[in-house]
Amino acid sequence: MTDHWVRLELDTTTFDAERFGAYVTRCRDQGIRLTTLAELGDTPEHRRALYELNKECSADIPERGEFFTYEEFCARRFDVPSYDPRGVVIALDGEEWIGLAATSRHTGFVFNEMTGVRAPYRGRGISIAMKTFGMDFARLCGLHRIRTFHHPANASAIGMNRTMGFVDTE
Ligand SMILES: CC(C)(COP(=O)(O)OP(=O)(O)OC[C@H]1O[C@@H](n2cnc3c(N)ncnc32)[C@H](O)[C@@H]1OP(=O)(O)O)[C@@H](O)C(=O)NCCC(=O)NCCS
Repeated sequence: MTDHWVRLELDTTTFDAERFGAYVTRCRDQGIRLTTLAELGDTPEHRRALYELNKECSADIPERGEFFTYEEFCARRFDVPSYDPRGVVIALDGEEWIGLAATSRHTGFVFNEMTGVRAPYRGRGISIAMKTFGMDFARLCGLHRIRTFHHPANASAIGMNRTMGFVDTE
C-alpha cells in the first residue's frame, strides 16, 4: 500500500455550478436517476445494497486489497457521528444501483468517502453528475470545503476530481 496519497480539496464557492450542472442534466437524459440514501430510505436492505456496490467498485482501486466485511463497513460508515444518509448519493438505472458518491460531515469540511460507478456505466459523466448533485449536502451542512484523497495510480478518480476543480492540498 502506498504511503503517498494525492490529497485534494474543492472550494464550493468557486465551483462552476453551471458547467457541472450540465452533467446532472445529461445523466437524467440517459435515464439515470440521482437520489440519496435518505430519500430512498436508510433501511438495512439499502445499507446492504450500498455495501455491495461499494465493494464491487472498490475492486478497481489500485492496491485496495480485500474489502471490508459488512460488519466492518457498518462500523466505519454508518456507526460514526460523521454519517448522514443525506450525504450518500445513489445513481439508479431503473431499479439497479449503478453508482454511489458517499460523503460524510466533519468539522470544517465534507469528506468524500467513496465515489464509484459500475464498470459498464463508466465514461458517461455519471461520477461528476453524482458529485455535483451531492454538493447540496455541503450547502445543507453550511460547509464549503470538500476533501478527498486517492492512491496516486488512480488516474480516473484523480482526473475526475481535477476536472471538477479539486486542487492539491496538504
Ligand atoms: C473513478 C470513477 C468513479 C469515475 O467514474 P466515471 O463515471 O466513469 O467518470 P466520468 O465519466 O464522470 O468522468 C469524469 C471525468 O473524469 C476525467 N477522467 C475520467 N477518466 C480519466 C482518466 N483515466 N484519466 C484522466 N481523467 C479521467 C475526465 O475529465 C472526465 O470528464 P469528461 O469525460 O467530461 O472529460 C470510476 O472509474 C470508478 O468507479 N472507479 C473505481 C472506483 C474508484 O477508484 N473510485 C475512486 C476512489 S474513492
